[in-house]
Amino acid sequence: MSPLDVPESSVFQGGLIESEIEPMNELTIKRPDDWHLHLRDGDMMRAVLPYTAELYGRAIIMPNLKPPVKTVKDVEAYRQRILDCLPSSHGFQPLMTLYLTDDTPQEEIQTANKEGLLAAVKLYPVGATTHSEHGVTNLKKVYRVLEIMQKLDIPLSIHGEISDPGVDIFDRESVFIERELDPVRNDFPELKIFLENVSSKTGVVYLLSAESGLGATITPHHLLINRNNIFTGGLNPHMYCLPVAKREVDRQSIRKAATSGDPRFFFGSDSAPHRQVDKEKAGGAAGIFNMPTALPDIVQVFETEEALDNLEAFMSLNGARFYEFPTNPDTITLEKTAASVPVIEYISADGDRVSVFQSRVPLFWQVVRGLRRIA
Ligand code: DOR
Ligand code: ZN
Repeated sequence: MSPLDVPESSVFQGGLIESEIEPMNELTIKRPDDWHLHLRDGDMMRAVLPYTAELYGRAIIMPNLKPPVKTVKDVEAYRQRILDCLPSSHGFQPLMTLYLTDDTPQEEIQTANKEGLLAAVKLYPVGATTHSEHGVTNLKKVYRVLEIMQKLDIPLSIHGEISDPGVDIFDRESVFIERELDPVRNDFPELKIFLENVSSKTGVVYLLSAESGLGATITPHHLLINRNNIFTGGLNPHMYCLPVAKREVDRQSIRKAATSGDPRFFFGSDSAPHRQVDKEKAGGAAGIFNMPTALPDIVQVFETEEALDNLEAFMSLNGARFYEFPTNPDTITLEKTAASVPVIEYISADGDRVSVFQSRVPLFWQVVRGLRRIA
């Protein structure tokens, strides 16, 4: 049996599996990074940014604002707004991305590259997810841009779902891989590509078959929920994100990949805050705000999988290696508490509440050293 084959008996029970090995009560790892984050702007950004900046060294900032961050000028201005939200001693570095459109000129990429401004360029297939209406309609239209990115060694970060409404929503990742990602990888063999928020066993298997140049971020929620959770106790909009959570077999594959230590998989929270009023309605927004619980959730997953030894690789080493950044110089220390730690249900932001992702498994790990008090 391959390590990604899932035995029938391992269906998610929603509880913790007792570890039979000697328990570990304290863990020190290099300061982690978040390789996929939605910070938004204005009041919302002011409310959510501290949850990232107090803990993480760096984060890849998604450009799907309204209007999108699609020019060098937009990127510079957005970066400055983020920095203006932080105290001067913060020690947090936002890593910026540009929103790719059908009309992005090659020159925009060259200018951004000269200024050392871009960590990646983000591809949203048009209509695939939140604020993707300016996304790419046909990958062939951006081939000239991909050529220059390949030449300049600027990575392409991909929302890997086909937006063809005729494709079943649960198959959109695998169809995207077959119809779009694989051809692009063949046409641009030197282009570094990130498949963001990998959510299916097909995606994981595809990643594992790639010899080089392909990495993937994994979110806490895709490690913890399957598609049943969207409907448990009635329709729950707070479990709705894109790519949508899939079958249990997919969740198990992602867990194995994340906890394996394989350098192609690393943490990207995809923390995506929306006001409750925008989630709890017909046509509610896709996106899960998980930043306050992301790290304790992940540690709990690694402990359950008896893989705490690989936690640092997933949270702090693999992504930096893939992006060719140094690892953070400092560390954080986590401690396992005797009683489970309380989890906040929501934060106040932008004149409303923003629900915090609840994994519904008790969380026992908390950071005891290495937090930066920045709020
Ligand atoms: O669930 C999601 N929310 N997936 C995305 O790709 C975008 C994000 C958002 O911006 O809210
Ligand atoms: Zn995202």
